[in-house]
Amino acid sequence: MKNYLKHDPWKIIEEGFHPEFNEVSESCFSIGNGCMGQRANFEEQFSGKRLQGSYVAGIYYPDKTRVGWWKNGYPEYFAKVLNAPNWIGIDVKIDGEVLDLATCKVKDFRRELNMKEGYLERSFSARLVSGKEVEVRSRRFCSLAEKELGAISYAVRPLNFDGRLTVAPYVDAGVSNKDANWDEKFWVEINKSVKRRSGYILAETKKTKFQVCTGMRFSIFKNGEKMETDSQPFMEDKFVSVPVNIDCKPGDEIVVYKFGAVVSSLYHKKTELAAHCRTLLKQAANTGFAQLLKEQAAAWAAKWEEADIAIEGDVAAQQGIRFNIFQLYQTYTGEDERLNIGPKGFTGEKYGGSTYWDTEAYCLPFYLATAGQQVARNLLVYRYKHLKKAIENAAKLGFTNGAALYPMVTMNGEECHNEWEITFEEIHRNGAIAYAIFNYVRYTAEQDYLVEYGLEVLIGVARFWAQRVHWSAPKQQFVMHGVTGPNEYENNVNNNWYTNYLAVWTMKYALESLEYVTKVAPEKYAALEAGLKFNKEKETATWRNIIANMYFPADEKRGVFLQQEGFLDKELRTVDTLSEADKPLNQKWSWDRILRSCFIKQADVLQGIYFFAEDFDTETLRRNFDFYEPMTVHESSLSACVHAILAARLGKHDMAYGMYLRTARLDLDDYNNDTEDGLHITSMAGTWMAFVEGFGGMRAEDGMLSFSPYLPKGWAAYSFKIRWREFLIQVKVDGKSTTILNLTDIPLSLRLNGEIYSIGNRASINYNEIKTSGHIEQQAAGHF
Ligand code: BGC
Repeated sequence: MKNYLKHDPWKIIEEGFHPEFNEVSESCFSIGNGCMGQRANFEEQFSGKRLQGSYVAGIYYPDKTRVGWWKNGYPEYFAKVLNAPNWIGIDVKIDGEVLDLATCKVKDFRRELNMKEGYLERSFSARLVSGKEVEVRSRRFCSLAEKELGAISYAVRPLNFDGRLTVAPYVDAGVSNKDANWDEKFWVEINKSVKRRSGYILAETKKTKFQVCTGMRFSIFKNGEKMETDSQPFMEDKFVSVPVNIDCKPGDEIVVYKFGAVVSSLYHKKTELAAHCRTLLKQAANTGFAQLLKEQAAAWAAKWEEADIAIEGDVAAQQGIRFNIFQLYQTYTGEDERLNIGPKGFTGEKYGGSTYWDTEAYCLPFYLATAGQQVARNLLVYRYKHLKKAIENAAKLGFTNGAALYPMVTMNGEECHNEWEITFEEIHRNGAIAYAIFNYVRYTAEQDYLVEYGLEVLIGVARFWAQRVHWSAPKQQFVMHGVTGPNEYENNVNNNWYTNYLAVWTMKYALESLEYVTKVAPEKYAALEAGLKFNKEKETATWRNIIANMYFPADEKRGVFLQQEGFLDKELRTVDTLSEADKPLNQKWSWDRILRSCFIKQADVLQGIYFFAEDFDTETLRRNFDFYEPMTVHESSLSACVHAILAARLGKHDMAYGMYLRTARLDLDDYNNDTEDGLHITSMAGTWMAFVEGFGGMRAEDGMLSFSPYLPKGWAAYSFKIRWREFLIQVKVDGKSTTILNLTDIPLSLRLNGEIYSIGNRASINYNEIKTSGHIEQQAAGHF
């Protein structure tokens, strides 16, 4: 755990230079706009520890797999989001001496991520080996308003010398992925151009043949005056640069305004990329840095207006939640159904930038409630568009008749993960994709989604489950063997309770949805039935039989569901019996030892109880929570949030707060010592859930939204906004009461602490928690 970043409600601040944590800072100070993003690398050269990383959404490479023991059914490749051409670089030389913070004496270093307005700022002064000193101040952003654009203002001030400053803005396409399996470079140059104040490189990815044109255009000002000084445009393989020499004296201020454009063949014809790049850059230069920055602040203000969570009385918690929300919106803004959310977003290469079940299980609720229906819908449509590949994927593994198995890891619908215990066995992801459809329809009431897309996916997934289970003669029940549940510290188990539950639930939901679509859209249903060669009578009878006769392992004595068959045969120990030297298990213990132990990586049975909360009473939740949580090491970043929500439901408020803080500040405090690889973007959505569903007690059930908020100890107040169907609602909680505001022009009904209330349009209710009897103090106070 680290503690070198300053606490501030709207900013992430590093004061003093910490080269030893530079890669952690590069992750934490990352910037992005949903279409591109980059780590907080320096503009000038840096020969110290760093991971140079710029990434473009949807641009990937199928890197040939490297495995020890090839198993039939493995995919050939692991898709990777590509380290993309770097447009931020500005080499700086002072009388020929390179400015490189790894070789200078650095003073007054400050790095700041302004989350409110969406930019990264850095300032320092540096004494070079020659003794010459400069002061530098830079600002940079990826524009939220114009997604293919970024801008930098880079100011250098000589402090103690008369001499020649050389600034050389450049574009570098000679980049490679740190995690490339075969140390291959993935970009091929198509063409490039460089002029006295601009340049671009058009590059193509090998195999996938995406093209990206990365361009720059810059201007230089000396003491506020634009300089028309000559430059020496320079190019070599995959590199264009424009060095400009400037004579200066102490106190002069040289400012480079550099605009970067990243345009890809995802959105433009290949033949038009270079021209489009040039046009964008010209427009940006005409608009100017200051105006673009204003537009950036306005675009972020609009996001914060609806998505902010404000906390009074706890700056660390405030900074944590805003950081999570900010990074989520830097990663995904939801306009394009071809894009998704990689576990590290644009902040690192781990997990390949690919889509995991994290999207459906964790990210969907966040976007549903903060960005609205269309954004969340795009996440669902993404999977709908991959259905054909999911069917092919299942067929490769021997499934027939249109059974669909969605991949564990994917870019384009194809599986690209190849560890057998995950690829073949961690099939619960298929259920999460079905669950997301249910969650979306329940939240939005857009039943039509089932007609248009949902049912087809549900039939494919239900068909898969129906073939994946088998009849056990001794048990006289259906069972499911050889699976890995969400708890990856168990592999190849039989009857993982969570997976069995999801399988049965999917079949039930598919049956319900079938009935619905048949009723409301008989023609659409008939077309689907024919297209899918769906034998309704026979297949639904099979599903019903499985639903009625599925085996679920349980311990009757303890009154708990068993994570898998045989779980009780393990030596049951709690985490507090582990020594510090044992932790984290995944770094300290051999794999077989982890597998034999009872220790749990992340919520498994509890994940199921969380998803299907309405199926279980509080006592069942309590028994299972008290049994499993003490054995859980939370070594997945996705674990703490589910536990925080459930702990809050059980009134274990201290524990909920502890878990919340762990997820909210996971990266800022580098709890798991792995922030240098990139941020845990998908678990950030879990942080939001832990807040709104945990402290706010929000649930969407029976067509109604409900809240049962409480204030964590030590906080003075908090508030958040939620989009719910056609409503925008604000929840404010302080030490005395809960106020709910209906910010829309139509009356709203909701449940607060178990009772139903109506709130007029643009009106509020106030529930006084001090009088804890459950009665409302004032209702529907005046309009505002
Ligand atoms: C977790 C998975 C998750 C993946 C990507 C793993 O450590 O166990 O549940 O999908 O990380 O976030």
